[in-house]
Amino acid sequence: MEQLQVQGAQSLTGAITVSGAKNAALPLICAGLMTDETLTLTNMPDLSDTRLMADLMVNHGLAVQFDDQVMTLGGAATEFDAPYDLVSKMRASILVLGPLVARYGEARVSLPGGCAIGSRPVDLHIKAMQSLGAIVELADGYIQARAPEGLTGGDISFATVSVGATENAVMAACLAAGTSTIHNAAQEPEISDLCECLIAMGAQISGHGTSTIIIEGVTALHGATHEVVADRIEAGSFIIGAAMTGGTLRLRKARLDHLTALQEVLVKVGVTLESGESETGEPFINVKAPAAIKAVDVETAPYPGFPTDLQAQYMALMSVADGTARISETIFENRFMHVPELVRMGADITIEGGVAIVTGKASLQGAPVRATDLRASISLVLAAMAASGTTTISEIYHLDRGYAQLEARLKTCGAHLVRC
Ligand code: UD1
Repeated sequence: MEQLQVQGAQSLTGAITVSGAKNAALPLICAGLMTDETLTLTNMPDLSDTRLMADLMVNHGLAVQFDDQVMTLGGAATEFDAPYDLVSKMRASILVLGPLVARYGEARVSLPGGCAIGSRPVDLHIKAMQSLGAIVELADGYIQARAPEGLTGGDISFATVSVGATENAVMAACLAAGTSTIHNAAQEPEISDLCECLIAMGAQISGHGTSTIIIEGVTALHGATHEVVADRIEAGSFIIGAAMTGGTLRLRKARLDHLTALQEVLVKVGVTLESGESETGEPFINVKAPAAIKAVDVETAPYPGFPTDLQAQYMALMSVADGTARISETIFENRFMHVPELVRMGADITIEGGVAIVTGKASLQGAPVRATDLRASISLVLAAMAASGTTTISEIYHLDRGYAQLEARLKTCGAHLVRC
């Protein structure tokens, strides 16, 4: 089992190019099921999750090539089952449901696995397919959806904001007959990125980026080329890393307008953030750590609120702040698994229901810790860079799901990390 050894007390200083967003890439790959023509996705991050999703497309019969951050998908699907051994490794595999049932009238998808951060039901995905006329059954651990006459446009009203269910609903509605309206849709930049790609493929979508998305169904989509949007969660992770290690960092390709909730909080914390464009028109964010880190409360919320995917990293930052911060997790009920690991490094954190109360310390100390999920694992890397001494992080396969070439990129900015 691979481990990451991190030598602490190093400031993260220099420049890093932010990768394409994992959470945009995964639905975009599934959009490849919606046309026989070639979909070319550029700025594709090389991650175990994107490779796994590509494997799932191959399982469905598509021809997939992935080289140098460019993934091409082509051909028709010949297999409509998404089996347990692939789906159980990654929850986002459920995103094949909408494309398959819309295009081929049938899909059989294993109930998903993924990060163990709560029960994570799939009822909203199922209701969305039913709202478009699919017949859905749950049997033998599989979701079976059929629409032999094709899907019909309809109203989809989500009781809870769900990123994945919105993506499935959008993809299915693109090929449904007539108009579909999605109410209480997720507004994440990754949803807009998917919609922009589908529009380039011939879909008729409006309202993406707001809570109401309207889709006029078309009979077929065609090939297109699309660039995956920059990963705001990766950018946010590195911003927090610079802030808590006394660093000064430039994040190339990163968009501050996708991180306004983090920006509002970090300005109160004392961090200096500015955005701009290079001569070639590429966006960037500059970060400068404060002399003293102030404790500021946060509550996670769907976009444009504070991202749950940055909660663990922010908790690492508050572990070394002046004062006490309350961090409320409202999206997932079991997303404090990093707390005992941060406590092993000397952090003072107590949990009361969905709230973590973090009292900052002057410094953390290196310790053996365990990565428990994707975002928890990067929070431990950041804490380890700020801590004194050496931290050994085990079960780092979680990191490889979401951060491409992490050690190489952090090393160029002064971090000391060794995989062993
Ligand atoms: C996506 C992101 C994940 C992020 C999360 C919330 C991807 C690949 N993953 O996950 O990184 O943490 O959004 O920003 O994009 N829910 C239901 N029923 C459902 C579906 C969801 O009750 O059918 C609930 C979930 O349990 C959770 C909330 O809705 O409490 C939000 O989950 P959702 O937005 O669906 O998360 P994912 O799309 O799985």
